[in-house]
Order: sequence, then structure tokens, then C-alpha cells
Amino acid sequence: MGTWNVIPVTTADYRRLAEKRLPRFLFDYIDGGSGDEISMGRNVSDLREIRLEQRVMRDVAEVTTRSTLMGEPVAMPLALAPVGLAGMYRRRGEAQAARGANRAGVPFATSTVGICPVDEVAGAAATPPWFQLYMLRDRGIVHAMLDRASQAGCTTLVFTVDLPVTGKRYRDDRNGMLGGGLRGKLAKAWQLASRPRWLWDVGIHGKPHDFGNLRGVVSGVNDLNAFKTFIDSQFDPSVTWSDIEQVRKRWKGKLLVKGVMCAEDAISALNSGADGVVVSNHGGRQIDGVASTISKLPVVAEAVDRRAEVYLDSGIRSGTDVVKAVALGANGVLIGRPWAYALAARGEQGVVDLLEVLRLEMANTMALMGVNRLQDLKPGMLETRGVCT
Ligand code: FNR
Repeated sequence: MGTWNVIPVTTADYRRLAEKRLPRFLFDYIDGGSGDEISMGRNVSDLREIRLEQRVMRDVAEVTTRSTLMGEPVAMPLALAPVGLAGMYRRRGEAQAARGANRAGVPFATSTVGICPVDEVAGAAATPPWFQLYMLRDRGIVHAMLDRASQAGCTTLVFTVDLPVTGKRYRDDRNGMLGGGLRGKLAKAWQLASRPRWLWDVGIHGKPHDFGNLRGVVSGVNDLNAFKTFIDSQFDPSVTWSDIEQVRKRWKGKLLVKGVMCAEDAISALNSGADGVVVSNHGGRQIDGVASTISKLPVVAEAVDRRAEVYLDSGIRSGTDVVKAVALGANGVLIGRPWAYALAARGEQGVVDLLEVLRLEMANTMALMGVNRLQDLKPGMLETRGVCT
């Protein structure tokens, strides 16, 4: 893969195209993880280690991937995870991805630190996005964002709890992504100059380049130093479960707590009023050395015991991965990097095409396992030796 006339199909294909299209510091920001990227790699490799049962002669003429997530009907049990800065990957990227997700019949979650403000994203597609919240020290800003999301029609809030501080991401340091002094500035200028298609699409036609949900609070993305100062001063490391209870009181819609990796935290989330939890290690971008998410899914699903919905993200790259997660007790999955690569590579249409590949692969895998409905996928159909705890 890699020439202009080959059709991208898999996540890996879109990744390669994204690498060609984006300035290096933006590609690495998406593609990288924290530390030595051990957890990032393990999320993917543990999913690949799990083996599926092949069953035959079972009448699989009626396979369907349809389901519901947070009460919404979906074409498959998958949502687009919140990914910051998407409007820097493609012109007005969050709006394009939201339209793509909508066309494919799955939810799109828009990030606190997106480029397009939540109302622009909501206006771009027939179904409003889910809204992702990071807790900021200034609760006035938080409340204003929640009100704006609710006015834009968002019905699900994704509260991300695994970022009291930002993980150490060395690729970003090397690229001068945040700061880096004069050398960092020169390196970025060089990378920008070598990507003319990106410059035309995003650099010139993708403005304004600011954090739409934080307009007036933090300056544009062209000043990433100011963004770093904002994160260091505003992301609140003192957050506890009682803060979620306050958000719960203010937010009338569904609440999904994203970033739990053990049974106790999942129970605390439920006790704070969550309607669901996302088993996530932020795509291996926070603690390096933490377990893979798929290895922790069974214990979390068992603790939640169907009292709330359980989702999994981090490492999902194919429709077969989604089948594995559902069989191990997930109501659905979120994907982060896969849609970011597809958006960077081919815009809205890239997102639609990738999602269709994932959906068809899910249906195909289910048929070859002898299963027509998602509810019939069970842990006993998998071999998870050496992966799940
Ligand atoms: C993220 N993630 C993330 N999560 C969140 O709650 N708010 C955010 O703004 C971001 N930003 C962000 C940027 C980029 C470039 C990536 C790759 C990820 C984490 C994201 O929602 C999700 O948990 C992971 O991406 C899932 O892992 P995979 O699918 O990328 O392996």
C-alpha cells in the first residue's frame, strides 16, 4: 500500500496515508503513546492474541450487527472516541467526522479540546454528538461548556477521568509539539512546508484554528505553548468521585465515565450516577506499563453485572476486535486512532469507508463463528489464555 491509486481498506492502510498527508508532529501526536509505548502496543497485541471459535452449519443467513448504545439505535456497537485537535487533521475535522459517523449510523463523541465548537459539530450532522468533558479547575467554564453542549442537543456526556495529569509522550517532546523553543519552531515550520496538501486544506481553508469549546479561555492552536500553560494550570488533578456527583446533578442526559481499568473504580463510577463506564487506558497515552484494556474487560463487566453499560476502547483496529470485545462482555467499543487516520487521509468519506469495512468484517466474523446476534457472542467462544486476568 502507499501509492495514490490503491484503495485504502484497513486501519493500517489509512494510517499510512495519514502519515503521508500530515506534518510529522501532528501524525506523531495521533500515532504515539506515552513512555516506551508498551501499553499502547499491548492494547493491540493482546486483542490479536485472542483466538475465536469456528462453528459451521448453523444457518447464519440473518446476521445483524445492529444494537443500541446509550439508548440510541446504532448500525453496529461502535462509537467514535473523543480525539482532541481533529480540526487540525482535516479542514473542520470534527464536523466532517461527525457527518461520516452519522452516515454510518454510529455516534460521534466530540472532545473538550476539539477545534470545532460543539454547536458547529451538532449543526453538521442530523444526530448531535456525544460531548466529552475534562474537568477544569474553573468550574464556571465547565458549567458553561455543559450548558452549551446541552443546548446543542447532546444527550450523552463522556466524562474522562484518566487525565489528572498528562502522560509523558516523548514523540511530542522530540517534535517540539508543545514548546521546544526556537528549534521546535523551526522543526515544525519545516514539517509544515513539506506538506502542501495539508497546508492548503487545513492551514489555509480550515480556520479558525482555535479550541472552539474554549474560545476566549485559551488562545488559538498556533500558540501551542499557551495551550500547554492552559492544560497545566486548568486541568484539575484534585478531581474525585464527588465532582462527578456534581456533574451528574447538572447534566440531565446520560453519563459515561471513561478511563476505568478495575472493578472498584467501575463501582465508584456507578455509585456516582454513571449510566456506563468505558474500560480505557486512553489508547496507551497515560500510564505506560498499565495492562491492556481487553485484559481488564472481563473483571469490569463482571463487577458492573449489567447494571450499566460497559464499553471498551484502546487497541480496536478491526471488526474482529469488536466481536472479541462484545463476546467478553462489552456493550460496545470506541475507536480513536482508526477514525483519526481515516479522517486525515480521506476526510468524511474516509471515515464512512473505514466504518463500512469494520461493520462488514464484524458481520463476516459473526457468520463464520455461527452467530446471528450480538447477544449470542459469549466468552466461551474465545480462547483468552495468557491475556485476560
Ligand atoms: C485521544 N483521546 C482523548 N480522550 C478524551 O477523552 N479526550 C480527548 O481530547 C482525547 N484526545 C485524544 C487525541 C488523540 C490523538 C488520541 C489518539 C486519543 C483518547 C481516545 O478517546 C481513546 O481513548 C483512545 O484513542 C482509544 O485508543 P485507540 O482506539 O486510539 O487505540
